[in-house]
Amino acid sequence: MGYAFADYQKSADFLRHRLNGFAPRVLMVLGSGLGFLGDLVEDAVAVPYGDIPNFKVSTAPGHQGRLVFGWLQGVDVAVMQGRTHHYEGYSYQDVSYGVRVARLLGAERLVVTNAAGCVNTAWQAGDLMLITDHIKLFMDSPLRGPNVDQFGPRFPDASHLYTPALQTLARRKAAALGTALREGVYMYFPGPQYETPAEVRFARLAGADAVGMSTVPEVIVAGHCGMEVLGLTLLTNMAAGILDQPLSEAEVLETAAAAQTRFSRLVLACLEEM
Ligand code: HPA
Repeated sequence: MGYAFADYQKSADFLRHRLNGFAPRVLMVLGSGLGFLGDLVEDAVAVPYGDIPNFKVSTAPGHQGRLVFGWLQGVDVAVMQGRTHHYEGYSYQDVSYGVRVARLLGAERLVVTNAAGCVNTAWQAGDLMLITDHIKLFMDSPLRGPNVDQFGPRFPDASHLYTPALQTLARRKAAALGTALREGVYMYFPGPQYETPAEVRFARLAGADAVGMSTVPEVIVAGHCGMEVLGLTLLTNMAAGILDQPLSEAEVLETAAAAQTRFSRLVLACLEEM
């Protein structure tokens, strides 16, 4: 079921009380392998999701479940250490709930990271990708149900969900670090089963470069409430059917671990100028 404005306000009020006037400017939602960035937050106030009214607890492997507030690269941040996914049994309103709460606390920007399968056959597992746009067909929307007018319009524009100026920032930072950065389209699949080879061919025909099970619900909600978005993907594996080998979570986590330093440096470098 959906939530009313008062529900989000209740969660925000609870957090405000814990935060003593601290207001985050940037919300970071960290996917597989980058959760440790939450541990680098200075003067941190960490609140377990389970303590926050209406928050759902993440159950996916590699996802902790807490919101960390404080300073990272000199920026006032709220870090979602671990996210929830639709495949865990949560609604799209549930998985994007924290974005609206962070907006109420003052966040104007969202940095979202994820692990995804690589659809583009010219690229390799381990590559980093700047998300320039996404595809989400057919499925329910996090904005389905009565529109919460306090956040945004019934029919929000989705022409520039991934903020062009933040894309420019990421390209510049990657170049300065000497880090190769692909860019492309992320296609959402609900999971938890990985895609079939036929679905991956379909994704490629549709114009996708990566497939994954997260991020898009949060980005839709962030766009609706006027937040700017930077999306960065680690391509942990070639998507199904490209190589003659089955996909495994072990491969995903292994690549995520191997790329951790490169990926986190880029994210932190971008954050520095946000
Ligand atoms: N598909 C969907 N989600 C993923 C993948 C994949 O191949 N790899 C990591 N997350």
